[in-house]
Amino acid sequence: MRFYDRSGEMETLRRAVRHKGSAMVVISGRRRIGKSRLVDEFMNENDGYRAFAVPKEEKLVAGDFADALSEGGGYRPVFNTVRDAFEYFLARAEKRIMYVDEFPNLLEVNPSIPFELQKLWERYSASTDKVLIFSGSYVGMMDRIFTRRKPRSLAGTAKWKDRDGDNRPCARDP
Ligand SMILES: Nc1ncnc2c1ncn2[C@@H]1O[C@H](COP(=O)(O)OP(=O)(O)O)[C@@H](O)[C@H]1O
Ligand SMILES: [Mg+2]
Repeated sequence: MRFYDRSGEMETLRRAVRHKGSAMVVISGRRRIGKSRLVDEFMNENDGYRAFAVPKEEKLVAGDFADALSEGGGYRPVFNTVRDAFEYFLARAEKRIMYVDEFPNLLEVNPSIPFELQKLWERYSASTDKVLIFSGSYVGMMDRIFTRRKPRSLAGTAKWKDRDGDNRPCARDP
């Protein structure tokens, strides 16, 4: 299917990479609204790592993240926890962008992950230019994770305006 217009949401993502420092973009919207496709299209022009969060034992999810963060040349990192995977991305990974699809599933893996991520973001975001993109279908849960316990970068969130109410994914950036 031809990619129909998501120029506002694309612009939010492009702005995050144009921006010189680190950025976090949160995309929420109900299932099948086009969140994953939006980031796929974006990542056709901006290379990055892509992980899909599945609710299962953390060690297995850490393995999925290690696959996602593997380099083209064959290097594959090893992680015991999802936290370690995020730290590796923020501190050492080659590529600048990482996308985690269906982020709320990570709460089932380990409820402390958003908290750990917040601590990592506070530690690394000022000294790196990494771009983290998260998406999730449970809009209420995304709001709870990223506003009530917001990583600091989201404190001044300029909310992207959702023109068609429920019919579009909502992408926000710092
Ligand atoms: N902007 C778009 N233009 C054309 N097709 C789209 C667009 N966004 C999504 N789709 C299609 O709609 C379906 C659902 O999109 P998807 O990205 O999987 O939704 P979500 O990740 O929000 O559940 C997919 O088949 C996808 O290719
Ligand atoms: Mg999806």
